[in-house]
Amino acid sequence: MLRRTFVGIVSAAAVTAALGGTALAQEALKIGLILPMTGPFASTGRQIEAAVKLYMQQNGDTVAGKKIQLIVKDDTGVADVTKRLAQELIVNDKIAVMAGFGLTPLALAPAPLATQAKVPEVVMAAATSTITEASPFIVRTSFTLPQATVPMAEWASKEGLKKVVTLVSDYGPGIDAEKAFTGAFTSKGGTVENLRVPLANPDFSPFLQKVADAKPDALFVFVPSGVGAQFMKQFVERGLDKAGIKLIGPGDVTDDDILNGMGDVALGAITTQHYSASHDSPENKAFVEAFKKANGGMRPNFMAVGGYDGMHLIYEGLKKTNGAGGQALIDAMKGLSWTSPRGPVSIDPQTRDIVQNIYVRKVERKDGELYNVEFATIPNVKDPVKAAKAN
Ligand code: PHB
Repeated sequence: MLRRTFVGIVSAAAVTAALGGTALAQEALKIGLILPMTGPFASTGRQIEAAVKLYMQQNGDTVAGKKIQLIVKDDTGVADVTKRLAQELIVNDKIAVMAGFGLTPLALAPAPLATQAKVPEVVMAAATSTITEASPFIVRTSFTLPQATVPMAEWASKEGLKKVVTLVSDYGPGIDAEKAFTGAFTSKGGTVENLRVPLANPDFSPFLQKVADAKPDALFVFVPSGVGAQFMKQFVERGLDKAGIKLIGPGDVTDDDILNGMGDVALGAITTQHYSASHDSPENKAFVEAFKKANGGMRPNFMAVGGYDGMHLIYEGLKKTNGAGGQALIDAMKGLSWTSPRGPVSIDPQTRDIVQNIYVRKVERKDGELYNVEFATIPNVKDPVKAAKAN
């Protein structure tokens, strides 16, 4: 008798637990985070995943009464894999939001799925201007290369530089950077020679030889995050550090993830970008400290801040929609503004790009480590390509 009652209680408890579990699972709001976690761009995946997890750790995993469930997938940096993973996450896991996207081709691949399924796609890394035009469900918390680059051209011109060679990775963001720099710099009377290096397994040596022969005042470089160290090594091997050619560009080449390992050759490089780990604000000090603490001392770079702000955008959007996704969530994200570790930001309601300060920075040694030290600010910069189209 006693035994039967006990069994009865246990099974009732088990059923309640199972039902409770199902109810919870139905309530959970899933975010599919698709990133290159392996392969040549794994540093981007590592930075963004760490930042997303830090945001959730600091802000809890319940928003608008719903439990947030993060599903991280490794696309290995291959666009076909990104697309397949996005499809599976939408169809099988019924995700409310997809996020991440480490490179331009990886952000573009799932765009048609975002449109069809009405699933917001939060681009935390990729930075070719056109990306947000690929789907009305795309919103971006990284940056665009023209946004970071036009201020570089203006700075170079003001400094009296006359002749610049550009060297860019030969795909979307590199071509954007090349065009933005060339257009803005030549309009101020400068001359530019353009060189492009393959994205995959780049050998910079033959291009650097051409740069040495051209003897420009400055070399403007764009390589995607993570590749800068390899570039710098060949820059030194070719003796360009001793040739008196200034190194300039958008900040990807001296990104915080690898800068400190580059050594003195990086000292003096002038770059323009939206984020430096040494940005002087209380929000950034707290972010850098918490990020390092949670990740064995790893310094956050601009990819991390794209991930952190992307999560903030998702959380704040969901609060506004009371947990609803789809069109309502995208609409709620438009126009949101907040203070990021990078400074004040907002989502442009017309373009769904991020509007942000661009800082001019110089690599300096500070407390024994190399940093991109900000020394000038261009406030509230929009993507200039779309701004020009709108006029
Ligand atoms: C891109 O592929 O859009 C991309 C990747 C890394 C960067 C910038 C842009 O640092």
